[in-house]
Amino acid sequence: MALETTRSSPFPPGFCISTSRLNISPFDPDSSIHAGFLVRLWNTDDFINSCGRTSITNPEKASIFIRNRVLQQYTVNQHGMFLVSLKNKDTLPATPIGTVSLMKGSPPDLHYTAPDIGFAILPEHSGKGYAVEAAKGVLEWAQSHLGIEAVFGFCDPSNQRSRRVLENIGMDFRGITGLRVFGAKTTAIYALPGMSKDLAIYGLDELDK
Ligand SMILES: CC(C)(COP(=O)(O)OP(=O)(O)OC[C@H]1O[C@@H](n2cnc3c(N)ncnc32)[C@H](O)[C@@H]1OP(=O)(O)O)[C@@H](O)C(=O)NCCC(=O)NCCS
Repeated sequence: MALETTRSSPFPPGFCISTSRLNISPFDPDSSIHAGFLVRLWNTDDFINSCGRTSITNPEKASIFIRNRVLQQYTVNQHGMFLVSLKNKDTLPATPIGTVSLMKGSPPDLHYTAPDIGFAILPEHSGKGYAVEAAKGVLEWAQSHLGIEAVFGFCDPSNQRSRRVLENIGMDFRGITGLRVFGAKTTAIYALPGMSKDLAIYGLDELDK
C-alpha cells in the first residue's frame, strides 16, 4: 500500500481562478467529491483512448494520488492539476466537469524547464469550448500571478481535438518528436509565441518540422 504523506496546499481557502463560465480550483485531498470525480474522468472511454489507462480506479487511490502527487506539484511549483467546474446559479455548488493542468517535473527526474499545459473534459461536456476557456484562464493566471512566460503543449499527434485546443489558446506548432519524459513516445509539440526558436534551451532537443 502507498504511504500517505502530510502536505498542505499553498493556496488560500476558497482560491479559485474564475472565467466567464468556469471555476478553476485546487484539488482537495480531503474531498470525497474530488476523489470520486477524478476516478470518473480518468475512466471514461474517451480519456482512456486518448491518454491511456491510469492506476486511479477507485476513490481511495485517487485520494492518495491527490495528496501525494497533486499537492506535491502545488507545493514545489505553485501550480499543477486543477479541477474545472461549471459555475452554477446562486448557492448551488459548482459542478466538476474536467481538469486543466500546468505541470513541470523536477530534478532528479527528467524534466523540461518550462511547464506544459494539459486538459481533460467529461465527454458529455465536450465540444462547448470549455477546454479552451479553462486553458486560457490558467495561462493568464500563470502569466500574471506567477510570471510564467514559457509554456509547452504536448499531445499525441493523432489527438486532433487536443491539437485544436492548443491552437485555439494561441500556441504555435513546433514539430513532432520523441520526448524524453514520455519514454521517447512520438509527441506533437506546441509552444507559446515568443519562446526561443531553439527549444533546446528548455531541455527539448531540436525538432524536425
Ligand atoms: C481534448 C478535450 C480536452 C477537448 O475538450 P473540449 O472542451 O471538447 O474542447 P473545446 O470544446 O474547447 O475545443 C475542441 C476543439 O476541437 C475541435 N474538434 C472536436 N472534434 C474534433 C476532431 N475529431 N477533429 C478535429 N477537431 C475536432 C472542436 O471543433 C473545437 O475546435 P473549434 O472550437 O476550433 O471548432 C476533450 O476532448 C478530452 O478530454 N479528451 C480526452 C482527454 C484528452 O485527450 N486530453 C488531452 C491530452 S493532451
